[in-house]
Amino acid sequence: MHIHIREALDFDREAVLSVEQLAFERDDEAELVQELLDDPSARPLVSLLAMVDDRAVGHILFTRAYLTHAENAVAVVILAPLAVVPDAQKQGVGGKLVERGLQLLAEAGVDLIFVLGHPAYYPRYGFTPAISLGLEPPYPLPDAHVDAWMVRALRPGVIGIVSGKVRCADALNRPEYWRE
Ligand SMILES: CC(C)(COP(=O)(O)OP(=O)(O)OC[C@H]1O[C@@H](n2cnc3c(N)ncnc32)[C@H](O)[C@@H]1OP(=O)(O)O)[C@@H](O)C(=O)NCCC(=O)NCCS
Repeated sequence: MHIHIREALDFDREAVLSVEQLAFERDDEAELVQELLDDPSARPLVSLLAMVDDRAVGHILFTRAYLTHAENAVAVVILAPLAVVPDAQKQGVGGKLVERGLQLLAEAGVDLIFVLGHPAYYPRYGFTPAISLGLEPPYPLPDAHVDAWMVRALRPGVIGIVSGKVRCADALNRPEYWRE
């Protein structure tokens, strides 16, 4: 299976939403992505599609965030959501989307990427639990899920010299998205 990762453009909107819907088997994430793509506070954003032949099988979205109370200026983004359609899962599509996203964001000068996700999945891409590093999510998480809030540094040395609470784009800024 040849997987090609490319930027999702305006005319890909339907394909993007369809991938989200199929991957999560409900409409919530597609609706969130729709709102984020139209949200000026989410920009600049990185939206990538994974293509197999001419079919969209995966999508990843990174949106603008801020670290509040940080003493040093840092460029921060949130990864949400990541979606791979069921029949293309476990074939490396998710991994390729994450890796390409990290590469593009590093080139763009982003310092930190945050994700609220499966603690067993993201560490393979260098993500590590963030709260114990002094990097708080937009809303407090239940104790059982604190490890789901993870960070990946793209600039060596940045972790440890910054701390604070992450403020996300308006469309993501609802308590129900932060329960994991
Ligand atoms: C999670 C998801 C994005 C992974 O995409 P993928 O293309 O299947 O992932 P890859 O092929 O790159 O990697 C597969 C590996 O991830 C693991 N994995 C998949 N989902 C996982 C999960 N929820 N928790 C832990 N590990 C998971 C697989 O077991 C596999 O492990 P292995 O390499 O040791 O065999 C995809 O399964 C998906 O879209 N799921 C439904 C939507 C979802 O839950 N998205 C949220 C992600 S936080």
